[in-house]
Order: sequence, then C-alpha cells, then structure tokens
Amino acid sequence: MTSEFGTPQGDSLGDLTRFSPDKPSPARVYDYILGGKDNYSADRESAERVMQVFPEGRELAWANRRFMYRAASHCARHVDQFIDIGTGIPTAPNVAEVVHRVSPDAVVVGVDNDPVVLAHDQALIAGEGVHIMAGDVRRPDQIIDSLNGVIDWARPVAMILVAVMHFVADEDDPSGILATFRKALAPGSLIIISHVTRDGVSQKTIDRIDAVYGNAPTPLRLRTAEQINGLFAGTDLLDPGLVDVQLWRPEDNHERLIDLRVLGGVGEVR
Ligand SMILES: C[S@@+](CC[C@H](N)C(=O)[O-])C[C@H]1O[C@@H](n2cnc3c(N)ncnc32)[C@H](O)[C@@H]1O
Repeated sequence: MTSEFGTPQGDSLGDLTRFSPDKPSPARVYDYILGGKDNYSADRESAERVMQVFPEGRELAWANRRFMYRAASHCARHVDQFIDIGTGIPTAPNVAEVVHRVSPDAVVVGVDNDPVVLAHDQALIAGEGVHIMAGDVRRPDQIIDSLNGVIDWARPVAMILVAVMHFVADEDDPSGILATFRKALAPGSLIIISHVTRDGVSQKTIDRIDAVYGNAPTPLRLRTAEQINGLFAGTDLLDPGLVDVQLWRPEDNHERLIDLRVLGGVGEVR
C-alpha cells in the first residue's frame, strides 16, 4: 500500500516530491533551532536570522515540544491510535516513543509534506506500530483516505496538529480543514493543537517576526487567541483550556513566558 516514503500508491505527490536545499523549509529551520543536524545552509541562515531578532526562539520551540510530550502522554492513557500531522524531523524523544511509553501497542502515524522529513522519519522511526506517510494538512480528505486500513475510524483517535496550523494561510481555510477532520473522528477523539498567537505580544516582536518570516517560502501566520480557539469548534477543551504551552499542565516550574506566545490545548470531540 505504501511506497518507500509511506506514500499511498497512485496518489499525486505534487509538491511533496520537490526538494530544494537552497530554500529554507519550516521543518529543517525548526530542527536547527531545536539543536538538530538535519538541515542545510539555507535553513541555518534562516534560523539564525530568526534567532538574531528573536533569541528566545530556541526556548519557545522546546516549550512547544514539551507541551506536545505532556499532551500526547495524556492522550495515550485514553486512546491507542495517533495521527501526528506536521510531524517534523525526529527529535529525541519522538512522538511514537512518548506514546509507546504509556501505551506500548498504540498505532502512531506521522504525516508531513516535506520530502526530507519523510526520508528521515522513514529511516529512523518507521517500524512496529509506527507508519510514516506523505500528506498535506491542506488536503484533509486525502489524508483521511490514505489512512483507511491503518486507522480504525470507528474508534477514538488522537490527532496532533502541533506547530503546523500557523503555516496554513487563511485562503486555505484552517477552520474548514479542522471541520473535515472532526467529521472523520469518532466521539471521544482528542485533538491537540498548538499555534503561534499575536495576542499579548508586543508590536516590536510582531514586526521583528514579520521581518524574518514575512517573505519566507512558508510564512508564519500569527493568529488571535479567538481564531485559534475557533479551530477547536465541535470539541470540549480539557483543563486548563487554550493557554500558553508553558502553562498546559506543566510538570515542573522551569517553564517561563516570553514575548512571543504559542497557545496550546486539547479538545475532546463531542
Ligand atoms: C515547526 S515544525 C513542527 C514539528 C512538530 N510537530 C513539533 O511541534 O515538534 C512544522 C512541521 O509541519 C510541516 N508542515 C508545514 N506545512 C505543512 C503542510 N501543509 N502539510 C503537512 N505538514 C506541513 C513541516 O514540514 C514541519 O515538519
């Protein structure tokens, strides 16, 4: 059913086959910011520009990552099927490791639209209970179709959309994308989202982020908390609701807030 990248046979790959090391990609820039090695000079230059104007970028990226670990561990106590869209280059620990510590038999599917991410994930983490698939979050129907046979849609699923929806433009209808996924998800499914917000962030920081990301091939969309909250329509937000990722059930007191905010939450599908 799957090609070497876990891509459904016969499915048009479109942009997914295009690999340009000379253009920064969100996944490889993020990998560099997290301290990874799977990136090229264009990614490193872009990441350095981000960190020049925004030195706390690395701290925020790790706060986001830790939110995902805590939220995924929570979900693994309730469901045993995970779909991680915008899964990224494997960072230790990866999502499947976190889930399998709690629920060893859980099925975890990583989906991404970056061929370099897919190659790394396929080589490093695909295996027993872990599937890697090419897919674009802007085409939710295609992702749902390609998961038939891997995911049992009659049972609850945890869907992870961490630090990916802010790369989706308004024209691509982020709320409509979530509505399509929600229709496929059984009641009791859990949706984990984190997203950069402009609320409560100084204009100086917003201008700086716009300066580096404004003309990037995949710009960052800073949305309001209300817009991000709207992505959880049709779900009940678990405590403590939609909050700074540092404040979502923190496990220690090392988390601190900075002047750029990523909001995170977990919604339970009604
Ligand atoms: C900032 S990284 C986040 C990685 C991981 N979710 C995390 O939070 O640690 C964003 C990821 O989303 C992927 N991505 C961006 N746009 C996407 C799209 N339209 N469809 C699927 N994945 C996308 C990128 O390739 C990248 O791997």
